[in-house]
Amino acid sequence: MRLLFIFLCYLVSFQVTASENKQAAIASAHPLATQAGFEILNQGGNAFDAAIAVSAALAVVEPTGSGLGGGGFWLLHRASDGFQTMIDGRETAPNAAHRDMYLDNNGIVDKRLSLDGPLAAGIPGVPAALDHLSQNYGRLSLEQTLAPAIRYAKQGFKVSSHYQKLAGFRIDALKASIEAKATFLRNGQVPEINTLITQANLAHTLEQLAEHGRSGFYQGDVAQKLVSGVQQAGGIWTLQDLKNYQVKERQPITGTYKSYKITSAAPPSSGGIVLISILNQLEQLPLSKFDSVQRKHMIVETMRRAYFDRSRYMGDTDFITIPTTQLTSKYYAKSLAASIDQHQASNTQQLPLAGATKGEDTTHFSIIDKDGNRVAATLSINYPFGSAFVPAGTGVLLNDEMDDFSAQIGSANAYGLTGNHANAIEANKRPLSSMSPTFIENDNRLMIIGTPGGSRIITMVLLGILDFVDGKDAQTIVSRPRFHHQYLPNKIQLESIGFGTQEIEQLKQYGHEIKVLSRQYGNMQLIIQTETPHRLTAASDPRGEGLSLVQ
Ligand code: DON
Repeated sequence: MRLLFIFLCYLVSFQVTASENKQAAIASAHPLATQAGFEILNQGGNAFDAAIAVSAALAVVEPTGSGLGGGGFWLLHRASDGFQTMIDGRETAPNAAHRDMYLDNNGIVDKRLSLDGPLAAGIPGVPAALDHLSQNYGRLSLEQTLAPAIRYAKQGFKVSSHYQKLAGFRIDALKASIEAKATFLRNGQVPEINTLITQANLAHTLEQLAEHGRSGFYQGDVAQKLVSGVQQAGGIWTLQDLKNYQVKERQPITGTYKSYKITSAAPPSSGGIVLISILNQLEQLPLSKFDSVQRKHMIVETMRRAYFDRSRYMGDTDFITIPTTQLTSKYYAKSLAASIDQHQASNTQQLPLAGATKGEDTTHFSIIDKDGNRVAATLSINYPFGSAFVPAGTGVLLNDEMDDFSAQIGSANAYGLTGNHANAIEANKRPLSSMSPTFIENDNRLMIIGTPGGSRIITMVLLGILDFVDGKDAQTIVSRPRFHHQYLPNKIQLESIGFGTQEIEQLKQYGHEIKVLSRQYGNMQLIIQTETPHRLTAASDPRGEGLSLVQ
């Protein structure tokens, strides 16, 4: 029966699912995670309970993207009173972390240290956030909402081609950790397609969380194993770091674009501020009057300006001050937009340029339940398979989110992002993120949107919003070719498919440097609801292997 369900899920996974009645919808990056969410809704859980089940299931069946050893942001909307909040379960730097911890004796950043192995790992936030969601917003117990994930961990999930590709990319780092190698590889090689990956230790850790709540992870037996595994392999976590981890509730960043209200991620994500800054600038420009190439040029220039502010000002607001009111004001956007030349690319200041962006990891899901409660959540362990390190006996794949800090001013991280003092490493600080779970709505239409994709997350969400405002449907929005600019490196990045030679030549004539990427990027999961006529649709990005369902 279960196999038949999964088979049917795969059959519909690339299609839009639509419904005329008041129903629930879930779009996630893995069919088993979407199924887990519906299992919980069918037991009487609300969207927040379903979000716990989906997050935990993804931690098991999509170890490339997120997990108990990572962090994330859950944007919530409660239907009964319209209350909106962002649950910040972002990782924190361990207490022994310091600004120069990734520099070698010559003062040069050693990239491997912030990407591979336990020194790259921040203190995880996902387990505490799931407990927080359950305590404050859910209807069911953690024992109920974590049950599907525990079952998947015991029974196993099947290796896909996506898994194979990412395991191949991270194979050296995975081989360096005994438990990661034993769990995710076979004889030190990428497993064959359909190989069953079972995770008994992870099932045990999830059971501890289900039984004892956050203390089942951050204290006691699991915490002991996490800390001793990390320390034995050269990491700096302590039991106190785990015990001290705090989930934060943040007021989301809000703004408007035309008739729509936008609600998106607050710091320590840069997502909401950058998104609102771009939209505010675009509102000043007669976008519909431009041809397709001019339109791209203008959008790129707004991206460049907003990402410049990202690198100058943004970091964890528990440690630094971001001029958020100014950066998201229409007045400020007017001056930014006025500096755009309609015929010529701007000069990006000459700062050290970044390397290529790699990887396809992290995860996003969108949920709406029958009552209208919503969740947009983007969760991450950063690089594919995170730091690739699993402390013995825990089954917990640790993140390498420390790479999202600026290891040094002007030096680029894995996504080519440069930063400033605002995002320097400090004990207990959260690294700056680009994850952008977002709601956009007016009286008639709502979209719940998000995607993985490192620094490109914000521009993908932006392009999705522009298409939504133009009236495009869910499947079109997740499928459209993507372009990106992030100030540095000073080039427009284009997906490998979807841009013609003539268009590229025309963009070059504006003075843009163009980089056509070797592949496509992103894995968008979105839901659209319209009031008149009442209609709920959901779509999963055809670039991934996700499943969207309306039931
Ligand atoms: O928080 C961030 O911005 C990154 N750690 C997200 C990484 C990501 O989306 C990777 N996916 N390709």
